Amino acid sequence: MDASPPAAHPRTVAATGPALTDDDRAAWERDGFLVIHDAVSEAACRELMARAEEIVAEAAEDPVSVFSTHEQTRTSDEWFLSSGSAVRCFFEEEAFDADGELAVPLERAINKIGHAQHDLDDTYDRFARAEVFARTVEALGPEQPLLLQSMHIFKQPRIGGEVTCHQDATFLPTDPHSVMGLWVALEDATIGNGCLWAEPGGHRGPLRRVFSRAGATDADGTRFTDLDPTPLPPPGPDGPLVPLEVPAGTLVVLHGLLPHWSGPNRSDRSRQAYSLHLIDATAHYPEDAWLQRPPELPLRGFT
Ligand code: FE2
Repeated sequence: MDASPPAAHPRTVAATGPALTDDDRAAWERDGFLVIHDAVSEAACRELMARAEEIVAEAAEDPVSVFSTHEQTRTSDEWFLSSGSAVRCFFEEEAFDADGELAVPLERAINKIGHAQHDLDDTYDRFARAEVFARTVEALGPEQPLLLQSMHIFKQPRIGGEVTCHQDATFLPTDPHSVMGLWVALEDATIGNGCLWAEPGGHRGPLRRVFSRAGATDADGTRFTDLDPTPLPPPGPDGPLVPLEVPAGTLVVLHGLLPHWSGPNRSDRSRQAYSLHLIDATAHYPEDAWLQRPPELPLRGFT
């Protein structure tokens, strides 16, 4: 007799993920992050990766834009600043050779897809609004969540870029603070292919700086404003950051003030992940935040 569980519906995230326990809540309060295994079905992970592959193929003719947290000011062009209401591809910095030509196949050259696919693409909409996420946010997150930003992160083999140590509230500030991150491993994440690292308890520290638009138009670019001189922890194993090595289907919930980092991927395996950032509708979202939505595409919650 076949005792294997029934195959998950290929178009839904598993709705029967584990309920949060008191220990989970205590870990969340203590650490500022929570790892929830088996939150998302393998089928749902595969479906999202297949849709991402289609989007990259469709985007092959679009203009080139490189996004990295290393070079954020220099590369914050209109392509990036107007992507809060679009579905766009951003290249890995190391995808290009010295002559500016693509050094890897296009499907291996994309750093991420962002930032509004949860409202503009049916596959991402279904994935992002799965019950497991709504339930997790209901337990731990904003009371009136709005789905603000999506990122499908590829962490490509060999050239996957580092994401420098940061707090998500730097990029998505609200008053009062409310941003929460839902990070889903679509593939196994290991130290070797650039898993997340986080500072347990680091969410109790101050917000170090804020990233904002420098003027009224996209052409005015962006800037960082320092808020607190406390240094962010150094990357890697010599500081307080701990590696979050997790199998595909794992959900990592991240407090918006938690310092986290991921290193470059020098392995021959990608490390795809889907990241969704939420804010509270009752908090003030600044007019100079980089990510803006036009009136015709208002932010929505889980329904
Ligand atoms: Fe982040």
